[in-house]
Amino acid sequence: MTGRSIPHESAALHVTGQAGYADDLPLPADALHACLGLSECAHGRIARLDLDAVRAAPGVVDVLTAADLPGVNDVSPNGLGDDPILADGVVRFWGQPLFAVIARTRDQARRAARLAGVDYDPLPHVLTPQDAQAAGTGYVTDPLTLRRGDAEADMARAPHRISGRIAIGGQDHFYLEGQIALALPGEGDEVSLFVSTQHPSEVQHMVAHALNVASHAVTVSVRRMGGGFGGKETQMNLFACVAAIAAKRLGRAVKIRPDRDDDMIATGKRHDFVVDYQVGFDDQGRIAAVQADLAARCGFSADLSGPVTDRALFHADNAYFYPSVRLSSHPMRTNTVSNTAFRGFGGPQGVLTAERMIEEIAYATGRDTLAVRRANLYRPGDLTPYHQQIEDDLLPGLFDQLEQGCDYAARRQAVLDWNSRGGVIRRGIALTPVKFGISFTATHFNQAGALVHVYADGSIALNHGGTEMGQGLHTKVAQVVADAFQCPLDRVRITATSTGKVPNTSATAASSGTDLNGMAALDAADQIKARLVAFVAERWQCPPDQVRFAPGQIMAGDTAIPWEQAIRAAYMARVHLSAAGFYKTPKIHWDRATGKGRPFYYFACGAACSEVAVDTLTGEYRILRSDILHDVGRSLNPALDIGQIEGAFVQGAGWLTSEELWWSDDGRLRTHAPSTYKIPLASDRPRIFNVALADSVNAEPTVGRSKAVGEPPFMLGISVFEAIGHAVASVADYARAPRLDAPATPERVLTAIERLRP
Ligand code: MTE
Ligand code: MOS
Repeated sequence: MTGRSIPHESAALHVTGQAGYADDLPLPADALHACLGLSECAHGRIARLDLDAVRAAPGVVDVLTAADLPGVNDVSPNGLGDDPILADGVVRFWGQPLFAVIARTRDQARRAARLAGVDYDPLPHVLTPQDAQAAGTGYVTDPLTLRRGDAEADMARAPHRISGRIAIGGQDHFYLEGQIALALPGEGDEVSLFVSTQHPSEVQHMVAHALNVASHAVTVSVRRMGGGFGGKETQMNLFACVAAIAAKRLGRAVKIRPDRDDDMIATGKRHDFVVDYQVGFDDQGRIAAVQADLAARCGFSADLSGPVTDRALFHADNAYFYPSVRLSSHPMRTNTVSNTAFRGFGGPQGVLTAERMIEEIAYATGRDTLAVRRANLYRPGDLTPYHQQIEDDLLPGLFDQLEQGCDYAARRQAVLDWNSRGGVIRRGIALTPVKFGISFTATHFNQAGALVHVYADGSIALNHGGTEMGQGLHTKVAQVVADAFQCPLDRVRITATSTGKVPNTSATAASSGTDLNGMAALDAADQIKARLVAFVAERWQCPPDQVRFAPGQIMAGDTAIPWEQAIRAAYMARVHLSAAGFYKTPKIHWDRATGKGRPFYYFACGAACSEVAVDTLTGEYRILRSDILHDVGRSLNPALDIGQIEGAFVQGAGWLTSEELWWSDDGRLRTHAPSTYKIPLASDRPRIFNVALADSVNAEPTVGRSKAVGEPPFMLGISVFEAIGHAVASVADYARAPRLDAPATPERVLTAIERLRP
C-alpha cells in the first residue's frame, strides 16, 4: 500500500461537498453564537468600555470581558503569560479582542459587537522591527546567537566583502476554512469542543486553564481542517477558550466563527524580517565568513516567536558551508498582532537571506548564480552554524539532474540573448536549492502516540495524535497500518483526532506529522501483530517464525487463514486486539545556551529552476516555467507528495510576489480581505510546471524510509524571486545586484528597475 499514489482519504468527499468541517456540525436547538469586539487602537489604556448598547442589542444573551473569565486570562503557548484572551486594561495592537458578545444568531452577535463605546488613552506605538529597535521596546523572548569560528577576524581577512540589507515581508495564512470553535457543555465541569486546530492537546490545556478545571474535563476533537499552514497551531486557543467559557457559563452550546476580516486582523501571521548581512568571499565566489542580524516583527507577545526566529537562524545557511559565521536573532516587540507559525516556521526567511548573499557574490564576481551556489554547497563532514555535522551529499546530484533535465545552460543563454536585444520585456532564470531540517527544535515535542483497534469483524479503527489539514497525513498513516496488517486500505478507518483517544500530543507541525504518527501507529500495529502471531502459532500448531501476514490472510506455515477468520478466532480466544503505540525521535539533542547540538534528525532537500518574464514598463511579471526536483526519501504516496510540493511552491512564490501585508501608520492592518490581499490564483501558476521526486531513500530509519514534505518545498518559491531579480538586473547589464525586497510586487520591481537604470 505504501509507495502507491492512493487518493487522499477525503478526496471524493472534498469534491462532492460531503466532507464535514466544524462549521457543518448540526447544532443543538438552543445553540448560541459568539463574536469578538476588537480594539481600534494600536497601544493604549482603555479609559472607557461601555457595553450597555451591546447588551441591549437584539438577540444578545451575554457579554464577556476580562473581568468575567473564570480562570487564567492567558493563552500563551510558552507559559510566558503575555497573551490575554480578552484585553485587561491595556490594548497592545489594533484588533486585539476586548470583549465577546453571545447572541442567538451569528448575525446578531456581529451587529451587537459594533455597538461598544470605547475610549483609549493612547500610548506610543511601534510597528516595524526597525522602529522597535530605535525605540528600545525590546525583545518578546530571548534572542539567539549561533557562532562558529571568528567571523569578525575572517571577515576582515576576506579578499572581498559586501554588506547589505533585505526586507522580507510577512504572509497571511489564508486557510480556506477560517478559525472556528464549537463548545458543548457537559455534566459537572466537563466540556467538549469541535475545533479547527493543528494542536488539539494545547487547546485542551488552554481551555482547562481558562475554565480552571483539570485537563480530563476537556475533550477536543478535530476531524479535518480546511487548511492550517501553521495559522492554527496556537491561534485557535483564544477562540476555543471564548466558546468554552461562554458554553459553561450559559449551559448552552456556543460557536464562534469570526469573519474573514476579523480573522485576518486578530490572528498572527508569518513574521516579516529585516536582515542586515555581511559576507566575505574570495575571487572564485567561495564564502569565507558570514555575519547577519535577523530582526523580526514579532508583535505584542512572544507566541512562537522564539522557535520561529531560532529556525530562521538554523536556515540562514540554507545549503551552504560558512567557514566562519555569526548569526543573531532579534525578536522585536511591536504593537501589531502576535506573529506565529507559518509553513517553514522562520526557515524561509533564513533561506532567503542565504540566497541574497549568493546573489550578491554572483553579481560582484560576474559569475552565474548557479556556479556560486555549487561552489559553496555543503560537503559531508562540514559543520553547520549550530555544529551539526552534515552527513549526506544529496544536493550536488540534485543540481546535476535538474540542471540537465530542465536544460538550464541553454535556457540561461537564451535568456541572456533575449535580454541583450534590449526590449521592454526582460527574462530571468534562477536555480535555487533548499535544505530543510526536520524535527521540532524543542526536543520534547518529537513524540507521538497512536491507538489501533482491530474489531471482531476484522475492520480496523486507527487514531493518532496528528491532525488532517489537507496534507494527506491520515492517508499516509492508514497506508502504513494497512501495510503492517497486509489488509486492503478500506479495512482501515481513521476517525477524528481526539484528546480522549491519544493524549499529550504535539502540534501537527514542523512537517513531522507522518514521521512521528506513522511510527507510533506502526508500533501499535506491531503489538497487535505480535499477539496474533503467538495466537496463530499455538492454534494452528506451527512455529511462530513461520506465521506471516500475507495480503488478506495470515499464513501459518503453508496454511492460509483468511483475515476475518483469524481475527474472529483470536477474539473468541480472548486475544487483546487493541494497542496504544508510541514513538520518540532518536538521536536529536539541542543546547540553546551553547548553540550546539543535533537539532535535526535529518534534512529534506530539493531544487527548483524558474524562468520569468518581466515587463520593465509596469513591473508586472509571469512565471513562464518551473522545474522542481525534490527529495522525499522513499515516497509513501507520490501523488500526495507531488501535491504538497506543487502547493508549497506556489504558496512560497505567492509570499515573495503578490502577497503583501500593509499597516497604516496608526497600526491598522489595511490588507484584511481578499480585495486587498492577493494570494496566487490558478492563473499565476507557472505556465509550464514540472515536478519530479528525487530517487532517494532516507538514510535514517523513518517510516518506510520516507522524508517529511510539508514545508521544505515552500522555499523553492525563492527561485521565482531570484529569477525576477535576474530579469531586473538585465537593465543595468547585470553589473549590479538587483537587491529586491520581498514581496517583489510589480511596484517594487518597477522601483528596482528605475534604481538600476543607467
Ligand atoms: N498542506 C495542506 N493542504 N494544508 C495545510 O494546512 N500545512 C503545511 C503542510 N502542508 C498544510 C499543508 C504545514 S505548515 C505543515 S507543518 C505540514 O503540512 C503539517 O503536516 P505534516 O506534518 O503531516 O506534513
Ligand atoms: Mo507548520 S508552520 O510547522 O504548522
